[in-house]
Amino acid sequence: MTDAATTLSRSTDSSQPLVPLLEERWSPRSYDEAATISDDQLDAVLEAARWAASAQNSQPRRFIAGRRGTATFRKINEHLLGFNQTWAHRSSALVVGVLENVTEDGDARPFAQYDLGQSLAALTVQAHAEGLHVHQMAGIDAKGLAAAFDLPERFQPFTVTAIGTVGHPSQLEEKAAQREVAPRTRLPLDEIVLVKE
Ligand SMILES: Cc1cc2nc3c(=O)[nH]c(=O)nc-3n(C[C@H](O)[C@H](O)[C@H](O)COP(=O)(O)O)c2cc1C
Repeated sequence: MTDAATTLSRSTDSSQPLVPLLEERWSPRSYDEAATISDDQLDAVLEAARWAASAQNSQPRRFIAGRRGTATFRKINEHLLGFNQTWAHRSSALVVGVLENVTEDGDARPFAQYDLGQSLAALTVQAHAEGLHVHQMAGIDAKGLAAAFDLPERFQPFTVTAIGTVGHPSQLEEKAAQREVAPRTRLPLDEIVLVKE
């Protein structure tokens, strides 16, 4: 981790101790624009996504990954919406999460969104194990991305995930910089657990 990451630790105040990778995970918008992700690291996070659980092992998830400085990265970045474009360009890689909503034979893939989410959770944990941070985004121009990468109709871009090294929050505009260091919050456990016996 960089010095910035060390100072910008935003651990949870969870009621129970969590494994360190989950305890330390958070979604930065301040990325170090000089930092890079190695080919092996990018392969490792994509492998983690590949090995996530999958309904009937159907794996209705695809990925488009571009490292900063490449045409693929630029193309992905151009299709982030408004606010996301102001910070995500400093990350080391952008990964489009693509749903396979329908098979080549026309069969529906009803769990595609769930499957993609599983794989991005695994990617996130692997990235943190690599000393990186991750920020998922739903604020994307999905149709524009599909056209830019010439995707068949059954493939639907659904999220973009920024991966990189935490930088200093002062690079962000004031409101975003404040959010970057604000306490992280969640609904209380007894609100989200409907039944526990
Ligand atoms: C499906 C999904 C979509 C998200 N979309 C965006 C987004 O478009 N822009 C953004 O800045 N953050 C986005 N986020 C990040 C959330 O705002 C963030 O995870 C949440 O505030 C909790 O913060 P934490 O991840 O640091 O715990 C998204 C997260 C998820 C899981």
